[in-house]
Amino acid sequence: MRTVEWDYNNDQVRMIDQRYLPGEFKIITYTDHRQVADGIRDMVVRGAPAIGAAAAFGMVLAAQTSKAKSSLEMQMDLIAAADVLQKARPTAANLNWALRRILKTAGGQFTNVEDLRKAVLSAAQQIADEDVAINQRMASHGAELIDDGDVILHHCNTGALATVDWGTALGVIRMAHEQGKQVHVLVDETRPRLQGTRLTAWELVRYGISYEIISDNAAGYFLHSGEVKKVFVGADRVAANGDVANKVGTYMLALAAHDNDVPFYPVVPTSTIDLSLAHGGLIPIEERDPSEVLNLQVDGKVIVPEGAKARNPAFDVTPNRLITGIVTEKGLLYPPFEQTLAKAVRDIEDILPSADQ
Ligand code: MRU
Repeated sequence: MRTVEWDYNNDQVRMIDQRYLPGEFKIITYTDHRQVADGIRDMVVRGAPAIGAAAAFGMVLAAQTSKAKSSLEMQMDLIAAADVLQKARPTAANLNWALRRILKTAGGQFTNVEDLRKAVLSAAQQIADEDVAINQRMASHGAELIDDGDVILHHCNTGALATVDWGTALGVIRMAHEQGKQVHVLVDETRPRLQGTRLTAWELVRYGISYEIISDNAAGYFLHSGEVKKVFVGADRVAANGDVANKVGTYMLALAAHDNDVPFYPVVPTSTIDLSLAHGGLIPIEERDPSEVLNLQVDGKVIVPEGAKARNPAFDVTPNRLITGIVTEKGLLYPPFEQTLAKAVRDIEDILPSADQ
């Protein structure tokens, strides 16, 4: 199944509950947009594109549960629901992007609330379907960068689980593998939530791609050794100048890659590009509960001293000067990113459906 999808038989959202992987494959269902917001916050669903699709389906639930008698009243309910969903995780640009797209559809002319409900569902379904198609287009562009025999370093989880299906950076690696190229992936474990160890490794087993998990601290060693030929990562938000916010640790990876002349590529749908922010310093960085850092157990025992404190930024910003190129569904973009990103977003906006379609 897809990471997040609409259940047409029961009018609810279904998601893979990523908190239990790889141990258990559990499906969770939601019937209220507030539950979806909690699910995004608790990382039942995570990864910027998957969060965007989840929020879009959350809006469908808000339309479904709304008691509004007129389309104007329902539009007000949807604006309130978007506010709740938008606060769930602040860094992922796709969350805002998907909510704005749904609100744009909902802001059209409707003679009754049922038509408005149908339009919201159709817009959310379109966001989900497009995500899969976009990922596969990005994967084809990105796979051109991969040579037979490459060892690739990958951070966090950017696969099918981080999107509706297929994946961004991991989708590129998967495409190269399907094209018959031999690839080996060094999987950053990705402290503190261990998305690399738990989710990326799980996906790579399923795809039959060769991999080894490394501790985040070992990335510099492997980059310096000459073993790693390329680094592929995802992104939660890209500023207009090409600065990239992604899972914490990405910046250190980019620094070490740059110092060792290893090409560094974020793989990014245009829905993750936020041209309203001039540079990465303006990207809101989510700081999560310190317990995610402190709940470190060995043999079932917590090993941090009692009363220990921690900081837990979930993302960091990699400056554009460390980035070789950005893979998008519009192709490979190179510096000057101010120009190439703006053109890619403009081209996509030109072909996006208008609100009344
Ligand atoms: O905190 P997470 O697990 O949601 O972080 C995910 C990432 O940092 C991904 O690299 C990013 O969302 C892009 S994935 C397609």
